[in-house]
Amino acid sequence: NKVVLAYSGGLDTSVIVPWLRENYGCEVVCFTADVGQGVMEMDGLERKAKASGASQLVVKDLKEEFVRDYIFPCLRAGAVYERKYLLGTSMARPVIAKAMVDVAREVGADAVSHGCTGKGNDQVRFELTFFALNPELKVVAPWREWEITGREDAIEYAKKHNVPVPVSKKSIYSRDRNLWHLSHEGNAIEKWQNPEKDTLVAKNGVCQLGHDAIRPAKTMVHHPHPHAHPFFRACACVRVWCVGVVGGWSSSVGVIYAPIQRKFSFCRASMKEQLIQRLERLHFMYVNNFVSAEEFVTVLSFLHRIKMILYELEVLRLREWCIEGITMGDILEDPANEPKKDMYMMTVDPEDAPNEPEYVEIGINSGMPVSLNGKELSPASLLSELNEIGGKHGIGRVDMVENRLVGMKSRGIYETPGGTILWTAARELESLTLDRETMQVKDMLALKYAELVYAGRWFDPLRQSMDAFMQKITHTTTGSVTLKLYKGSVSLASRKSPYSLYREDISSFENGLIYNQADAAGFIRLYGLPTRVRAMLERGI
Ligand code: ARG
Ligand code: SIN
Repeated sequence: NKVVLAYSGGLDTSVIVPWLRENYGCEVVCFTADVGQGVMEMDGLERKAKASGASQLVVKDLKEEFVRDYIFPCLRAGAVYERKYLLGTSMARPVIAKAMVDVAREVGADAVSHGCTGKGNDQVRFELTFFALNPELKVVAPWREWEITGREDAIEYAKKHNVPVPVSKKSIYSRDRNLWHLSHEGNAIEKWQNPEKDTLVAKNGVCQLGHDAIRPAKTMVHHPHPHAHPFFRACACVRVWCVGVVGGWSSSVGVIYAPIQRKFSFCRASMKEQLIQRLERLHFMYVNNFVSAEEFVTVLSFLHRIKMILYELEVLRLREWCIEGITMGDILEDPANEPKKDMYMMTVDPEDAPNEPEYVEIGINSGMPVSLNGKELSPASLLSELNEIGGKHGIGRVDMVENRLVGMKSRGIYETPGGTILWTAARELESLTLDRETMQVKDMLALKYAELVYAGRWFDPLRQSMDAFMQKITHTTTGSVTLKLYKGSVSLASRKSPYSLYREDISSFENGLIYNQADAAGFIRLYGLPTRVRAMLERGI
């Protein structure tokens, strides 16, 4: 009867509100967690939520809890997923989902809902947290259920339900920001595509052309503006032409809107053939005066330039990208492409960073950061101040291809300026405070710890027990580390700890009282005994 929805105010979650009401007949309570995603996102949220049909919006500031109870424990553990990822999104999901379980109890809701797609990790993280904290809550994941497969669909649905459409421009990136990091993944291919539904569309008898399922969806007259960008006009023509493929040419006079649901597993051999066919049809249209000579030439020249690319992209999306001046080489999904300079938001390009290095001193107490440049700060304020400093010097950019929990690989870019500095500081301090074997075991467990966090198993007894180990083992990881930031690099300037196991009197080359070099001879003889025995065997000695 009542559902708590993880709400951001974007198009997706705005559409989920009326969808939940329509399909589940329930009251929708929107919930927004402040995990440091930025003020912009918080503006006018309550008004928006209510305009979408929510009965109320609950906002909770989780910043301190997030940093203190989620981020810092991971930092202490040294958790890194697949060698590079500092888990920014992974850590945020359990804190948000936990708050949702609390809100559900407070408002008497029996269900929770989120706007994650069915292809990612986030759905798992949300739902495992719900399971762990209240197994009785019903979970609704609209992206896995509904028929909406594209942005245009979503906008139309919103309009039909009198929900104001958020005006934010469609981005080619799917981003997730919080106090720890900002992630960028490709939005285009990922989000608006659903292979199962594509097949369905095809099955529902509309059309299957090669591997393209073409659906002359909601018909909408769409005249390319005479002064529009030539590409826009070209694509508008291409749409007609696609509809033509579906419905026969006579039925496609005029410019009809037809989103193309396509599959990415393309049969390459047939592509050229298809292209030729389509060009012939375009020519047919030109001959029959359906498009002007000028348009025809424009389309042809663009087609020539972009060749197969046209078929690799949904026409609508392509049009949007082209208007923004974006080309195939800018698409983040392709790991062969370098990210665009203007994609980054938390960090400056290291090339543009100050020519002077900056020193920062991090104070750590039992594995947890407590001060910055000698000033004691709360966890969230320490991190946000450090983000400023790190961002200015271009620290913490990561570009990786990772293995998602659901099996697929995905390419992502992360910006973790403050986090990267803290991570370096913590490891440097451990180099003083942990002995060899302890460090080895800790690092081994860190790998598993990271995997559990990535997989959304924050509330598993396994992670919790490992955390107890981490707490115990870093009991003496206290001290201060000074780092030098310079054009994207973090290098070490100084490390100090009252619990340091490093003893200059032992390590220095002078013969000391505790370490006697003569002892080494016996040690090496015994330590190397198996090596010697094996070599003797091989030589028949
Ligand atoms: N791939 C990263 C992760 O799984 C980032 C996910 C970003 N999430 C998002 N909704 N944009 O943790
Ligand atoms: C999503 O699919 O909702 C975002 C990506 C992810 O969860 O990994």
